[in-house]
Amino acid sequence: MAEEPKKDAADVTDATPSVSEVETVDAATPEEAVAAIEAPVERGEPILQVRNLVKHFPLTQGILVKRQIGAVKAVDGISFDLYQGETLGIVGESGCGKSTVAKLLMTLERATAGEVFYKGQDITKLSGRALKAVRRNIQMVFQDPYTSLNPRMTVGDIIGEPFEIHPEVAPKGSRRQKVQDLLDVVGLNPEYINRYPHQFSGGQRQRIGIARGLALNPEIIICDEPVSALDVSVQAQVINLMEKLQDEFNLSYLFIAHDLSIVRHISDRVGVMYLGKMAEIGSDEQIYDHPTHPYTQALLSAVPVPDPEAREGRERIILTGDVPSPANPPSGCRFRTRCWKAQDKCAEEIPLLAIPERFAGQDTPAAHESACHFAEEKDVVHAA
Ligand SMILES: Nc1ncnc2c1ncn2[C@@H]1O[C@H](COP(=O)(O)OP(=O)(O)OP(=O)(O)O)[C@@H](O)[C@H]1O
Ligand code: SF4
Ligand SMILES: [Mg+2]
Repeated sequence: MAEEPKKDAADVTDATPSVSEVETVDAATPEEAVAAIEAPVERGEPILQVRNLVKHFPLTQGILVKRQIGAVKAVDGISFDLYQGETLGIVGESGCGKSTVAKLLMTLERATAGEVFYKGQDITKLSGRALKAVRRNIQMVFQDPYTSLNPRMTVGDIIGEPFEIHPEVAPKGSRRQKVQDLLDVVGLNPEYINRYPHQFSGGQRQRIGIARGLALNPEIIICDEPVSALDVSVQAQVINLMEKLQDEFNLSYLFIAHDLSIVRHISDRVGVMYLGKMAEIGSDEQIYDHPTHPYTQALLSAVPVPDPEAREGRERIILTGDVPSPANPPSGCRFRTRCWKAQDKCAEEIPLLAIPERFAGQDTPAAHESACHFAEEKDVVHAA
C-alpha cells in the first residue's frame, strides 16, 4: 500500500479490550430514546456493542405449503464491541457471515436472537423515531460501485437522496450546496453534480458512494468490501480518502474485506470469522503477528510472500476439505473438520471466545481473545 499503516488510535489498540459491560439506557419515551442516540460518545468508548447476535435463514420445502426443514446459520452467536473513532476489520472466507453481520447492524435484516446496543439502546428492538435516528447515524458503503448507484439518477440526486428521509439535516434550499460540499470532501469536482454514474470511473463512483454515506453526518460507517471491485492503485486512493475522512469527521468504521493486507493497513483491531462465529479478535499486531487460532494462522499462511528467502523457510499451512455447510455446522468447534490440531474435546465442547487461560494475566501479545481449546502461537511468515 502507498502509506504506512495508520496507528493514531493508540488508546484503543494498546490493549485489546474484551467485550465491555453494556450500560443500557432506560428510555421510557421515544424522545428519551432519541436523546440517548444523539448523545456524543467519548473517543475510545464503545459506541456499538454486539451481544450473542444470531441470524438463521429458514430453509423451506414445498410449493403451496411451505415447511421449514432447517436453517442456514449465517451468524450464530457473535459478540464484539466497536469503539468510537476506531476501525474494526472483519475478515473470513466467503460465506462466513460477514455481510449478514453488516446487514444486521444496519437493521436491514431482523436478528433471530441477540442484541446490538448503540449508545445503550438495543437497536434490534427499536421502532419509529428512535430507529430512524439510529439509521441516520449508521450508514453503509457497499462493495460494487457499478451496481450500487442508480444509473438513472444524477450524482446530485444520489448523494442528496438521504435528505428526503432526513430533511432536518439539510433543508431544501441548502441541499445543492451541501451535495457540492460533499463532492468536494471526497475529492470530486463539485461541478459534476448533474452527471450520471456511467460518466465516472470505478474509483470515482466509490467516492460518490462514500459521499452519500457521509451525507447525514453519521457516526458509524459499515464498509462491506468497499474496495474489492477496484484496481489496486485506485484501492490505495480510496483507502487513503477513508482514513482522512475518519479523522476529519470522527467516524468509527466496521471494515469488511477479503484482502488481509488492506484490512491490516486500515484497521486498529481485527476480528476473524469462521462459519458464523468469531474465531479470534485482537489488535492488528496481535492478530497478524501473534495469531493463536489455527484458522487465523492458516489464513495468514495463505498470503503470498514476495521475498524468495522468507518464502523458502516458511511452513505453509494448507487447509484440506471444504467449508462445511452453515445449515449443518460441525459439533463443538466449527473449524475442527479442517483443523490439524483437532482432538476429541473439539467435537464435544464449543470453544468460547476468550483470552486463553495459559495467557491470562500475562503481558504478551498472545493474550487476546481466541475461540480455540488449544490456542497457542505459531510462527507464520506472511506479507500482510
Ligand atoms: N437472504 C438469505 N437467505 C438465505 N441464506 C442467506 C441469505 N443471505 C445470506 N445467506 C447465507 O448466509 C451465509 C453467509 O452469507 P454472507 O453473505 O453473510 O457471507 P459473506 O461472509 O459476506 O460472504 P462473501 O465474502 O462471499 O461476501 C451464506 O451461506 C449465504 O448463502
Ligand atoms: S478448538 Fe480444536 S478444532 Fe477448534 S481450532 Fe482449536 S484445536 Fe482446532
Ligand atoms: Mg459479503
